[in-house]
Amino acid sequence: MHDIFEKAQQTQTAIDADTPVNAEALEVFRIQYLGTKGILKSLMGEMANVPNERKRDYGQLMNALKQAAESKYQTLKEAFEEQEQGHDRQAIDLTAPGEPVPLGSRHPIAVTMNRIVEIFSRMGFSVVDGPEIEDDWHNFTAMNTPEDHPARDMQDTFYVVDAPGMLLRTHTSPVQARVMENRQPPIRIIAPGRVYRNETISTRSHCQFHQVEGLYVDEGVSFADLKQTLYYFAKEMFGTTKIRLRPSFFPFTEPSAEMDIWLGTDSEKNYRLTKGTGWLEILGCGMVDPDVLEMCGIDAKKYSGFAFGMGIERQALRLYEIGDIRLLFENDVRFLKQFTPAM
Ligand code: PHE
Repeated sequence: MHDIFEKAQQTQTAIDADTPVNAEALEVFRIQYLGTKGILKSLMGEMANVPNERKRDYGQLMNALKQAAESKYQTLKEAFEEQEQGHDRQAIDLTAPGEPVPLGSRHPIAVTMNRIVEIFSRMGFSVVDGPEIEDDWHNFTAMNTPEDHPARDMQDTFYVVDAPGMLLRTHTSPVQARVMENRQPPIRIIAPGRVYRNETISTRSHCQFHQVEGLYVDEGVSFADLKQTLYYFAKEMFGTTKIRLRPSFFPFTEPSAEMDIWLGTDSEKNYRLTKGTGWLEILGCGMVDPDVLEMCGIDAKKYSGFAFGMGIERQALRLYEIGDIRLLFENDVRFLKQFTPAM
């Protein structure tokens, strides 16, 4: 008699401990405990052998067992069914059309800059970067620009109020100094980037614009190398074979020149862009002043070099036939989205 109670008790423990992990195991569980030939049925069958005064206890025990087994079975059955449906729900319909992702576009200045970089890369120039917040030494002194030069004036240059001797670079030329200080020739670099000038003469002028600097220093570099390099550039960039070099002055080059490309005056746009002359000035250049080489730690008796600096904005106007420079800075998406999509 005692045995029957004990057996029922053990069954209870077994049910609690048995947790099927999938639908098949659950079916085994069902047959084992709840089936017509299952354990619970056979335990029920023992009722006849239980003395009358304990029949009630045994009956209660049987009910508890049955409930435990049934509720476990039911709960797990639902869980497994849900799992299966979940799998179905996750299935992806590969034939459904995709959602369009709107593409941005590169800014015409960035496109123009990349094109310039690409052309000079082909000639073996490598790209270097320099800080936009520069010190006086690199921006002016090392570039042979004397203390009393008007470019140093507060009217022309943004100085950092809290940091004496620091300023927003007025050209990309300080990158020349930075490279020469750290490397010996052969040096063949271009440095694209933003520059700043305090030009408040009219509301139309911009205090920030873009330049690409170029520097080539080696033994025996001549003005002919400079001319040929820039000629190749003009041809690749604008498809023009007509350039002219006009004598000019920069403190850090000697001799110095400005380069124009021929656009002609056939169209109204070109007439306007060239102010009726047919020539568009695109860069300043020259042979690096030996004093600059020496100041930057390069032996000027052994080496010579050329440098050039060009504005990007004007070239972008020319390349895309944009009539007004202000369009480049207004951030109007209707204008900007007309250019090459981002890659
Ligand atoms: N830094 C000059 C400018 O901003 C351009 C330049 C660069 C001229 C290099 C000569 C050589 O106008």
